[in-house]
Amino acid sequence: MSANRVIIFDTTLRDGEQAPGCSMHLDEKVRLARQLERLGVDVIEAGFPIASDGDFAAVEAVAVECRRATVAALCRTTEADILRAWAALERAAHPRLHTFVATSDIHLEHKLRKSRAEVLAMTRDAVRLARSIAEEVEFSAEDATRSDVEFLCDVLATAAEEGASILNVPDTVGYATPVEYAELIATVRERIGGDVTISVHCHNDLGLAVANSLAALGAGARQIECTVNGIGERAGNAALEEIVMAMRVRADRLPFETGVDAREIYPSSVMLSEIVGFAVQPNKAVVGRNAFAHEAGIHQHGVLSNPLCYEIMTPESIGLPSNRLVLGKHSGRHALAQRYAELGCELAAGELDEIYRRFTSLADRKKSVYDQDLLSILNPFTMSSEARLPTPAVGGAH
Ligand code: KIV
Ligand code: ZN
Repeated sequence: MSANRVIIFDTTLRDGEQAPGCSMHLDEKVRLARQLERLGVDVIEAGFPIASDGDFAAVEAVAVECRRATVAALCRTTEADILRAWAALERAAHPRLHTFVATSDIHLEHKLRKSRAEVLAMTRDAVRLARSIAEEVEFSAEDATRSDVEFLCDVLATAAEEGASILNVPDTVGYATPVEYAELIATVRERIGGDVTISVHCHNDLGLAVANSLAALGAGARQIECTVNGIGERAGNAALEEIVMAMRVRADRLPFETGVDAREIYPSSVMLSEIVGFAVQPNKAVVGRNAFAHEAGIHQHGVLSNPLCYEIMTPESIGLPSNRLVLGKHSGRHALAQRYAELGCELAAGELDEIYRRFTSLADRKKSVYDQDLLSILNPFTMSSEARLPTPAVGGAH
């Protein structure tokens, strides 16, 4: 694997599913896991087997189904958790045990009620046990970004000594800023050395999850934990589609590779929205309904002349068939003429001005103008027999 290859660890089925309203049934998880393999993620975190029988069964089913990707299962540092996670993973082609414990004083005092020495011992025992049964073990220091850095490094070094080959430094509460997070990753890397993979896992409470994850790459992180559509606890996790497309579009600044087939991004986003039953926000980066839609006349004219005027990536590159010009009161003559042409209507010379006047007067009264409206404001003789009716000019949301 090249030094700039970044492992994409998808946790849509685990951290994503923990988000309110995002729970999934077993068959939905398996369907999404198949799509994640098509998408080309390296690791699929399928669930937290000790949490419920349903979670156990889902991890087991995904482990049986996915033969290319590594399948990870989450467990705390107790023996019962670790053994349960392993039982769910046993039939996986490439299993990974992912064990975690919190390292911040606030979690130690108020949640775990443990001393730092006890947490160090829990880490050592858990990773030792996990490594005695699994070849590949990841260790996460929950709330790493609010932990004492020296103690955090002691815990991570202990996990590495016991054989964890992936060390995750989560920004569990979405508190870090990009430069600060990159500095923390650089410190961990310096302290632990080069043999382990440093992983990042960022939450989006301040809207910085993607920025923090990308900043960490410059400091040596080589695994990013993320979710489709950015779903996850509270404000969500780092969005997979934003991370992957940032690396592709800004390869000059982010010279990293992933195994993701970007053309599967949109189908994955749509599938997840269908399963959880809600759409991403319209202005969501990369996969939102408006991400490739242009309504303002000046933008529509530019995009029709050359999409590069207002698009830094093509809709096709993420698997969306084409960009959509949304017709509304800000639209111009070019977009209107183009839409009529797509509908099979040839506008006679000099006719566009009058039709455009009718269109703007209608658009002043209606938020969006649909194909039916466009056809109704045409003179009857303008409509060719091929005029296509009635697809909305505004594409459907997901
Ligand atoms: O946010 C977090 O700290 C987690 C860990 C369990 C990896 O999800
Ligand atoms: Zn998390």
